[in-house]
Amino acid sequence: MSERDWESHYRDRDMPWNHGGPAPGLVDFLAANPGLDRRPVLVPGCGLGNDAMAWARAGFPTTGLDLAPTAVMLARAAAGGVTGLSFEVGNFLECPPVQQPFGWVFEHTLYCAIDPGRRAAYADALPQWLAPGGQFVAIHYLNPAAPEGPPFPCSREEILSRFGRHFELVADWQPRSWESRVGREWMFWWRLR
Ligand SMILES: C[S@@+](CC[C@H](N)C(=O)[O-])C[C@H]1O[C@@H](n2cnc3c(N)ncnc32)[C@H](O)[C@@H]1O
Repeated sequence: MSERDWESHYRDRDMPWNHGGPAPGLVDFLAANPGLDRRPVLVPGCGLGNDAMAWARAGFPTTGLDLAPTAVMLARAAAGGVTGLSFEVGNFLECPPVQQPFGWVFEHTLYCAIDPGRRAAYADALPQWLAPGGQFVAIHYLNPAAPEGPPFPCSREEILSRFGRHFELVADWQPRSWESRVGREWMFWWRLR
């Protein structure tokens, strides 16, 4: 899907991926790890900002990034009053427009939304957003119901191979998911080498 297509989805309020709250796997991750270092978090492909809000409410300075201006406008409106949270328009695959080295990158349904031909660009961009020792937490949609995408399917083996070049795997597991995605998602926690 092109940049323009994402924007028109938000303009038309046609956002079937939006569940109106943070990903269950992220909620569980934050609850299970209360002692995490409160370094700044980037949430690329943040959409309406539900996951970014969960990080900010847990005490992390958080930036949501999305290339669709209408998504950012809606996220800003929804997040009014949440401290330590901002949203920017930008392309995660290009040079960082936000001049801040992040301690964390968290993503949910961005990698699987990007054309598989651009996955190498994603893996190359990711370390550029992170400060030394930065961590990457992701919930990947391995097995979407309609594999013609987006979302495009991926495998645990492919993820391990692609991100293992720059990152050390801390843990991976099957997260709690929205009902329509049960058994289709896998969560990874990585640390920059
Ligand atoms: C399937 S939606 C998921 C949105 C959100 N993460 C969620 O789970 O509700 C994918 C999002 O990624 C955004 N996106 C796609 N490619 C992007 C890129 N290269 N940089 C930043 N955002 C991107 C789209 O505009 C869209 O909001």
